[in-house]
Amino acid sequence: MRLHCTVNGEARQIDGVWEGESLLYVLRERMGLPGSKNACEQGECGSCSIYLDRVLVCACLVLAAQAEGREIVTVEGLARGEELHPVQDAYVETGAVQCGFCTPGLIVATHELLGRNQKPSDAEIREALAGNLCRCTGYEKILDAVRLAAERTATQ
Ligand code: FES
Ligand code: FES
Repeated sequence: MRLHCTVNGEARQIDGVWEGESLLYVLRERMGLPGSKNACEQGECGSCSIYLDRVLVCACLVLAAQAEGREIVTVEGLARGEELHPVQDAYVETGAVQCGFCTPGLIVATHELLGRNQKPSDAEIREALAGNLCRCTGYEKILDAVRLAAERTATQ
């Protein structure tokens, strides 16, 4: 099939897509957007988190055909050109990135949280990020990153 969608603000047309392949595969392998990570392919780890029509989803659970005509934003789309988004900066500054495999999904999930709650409590942060697994950091640095990003985005 030929897939039409908008990705990070740009209209895209991709040929040769099989309807049953995952949107994650299309993003990574056909569109050259490797930011969203492929870890479990079962909706368990959150490393492939993206926005689909402004709703946070796991791209591994979305079929390519379901993305037809829809608007997608990936972790690559959060930065403004060379300038990182404040959430991305906060993850780097607090040392919340170790191997980095979970980081893109956590950044998108954090962005989504702060978009609806500018001053989340620790409990709200933990709840919002409960679907994003990290094997490296022990999560404390991730909490620090979200708190820092919240401070900065609240004052913008
Ligand atoms: S790769 Fe999609 S949730 Fe793990
Ligand atoms: S930094 Fe390695 S899995 Fe999170």
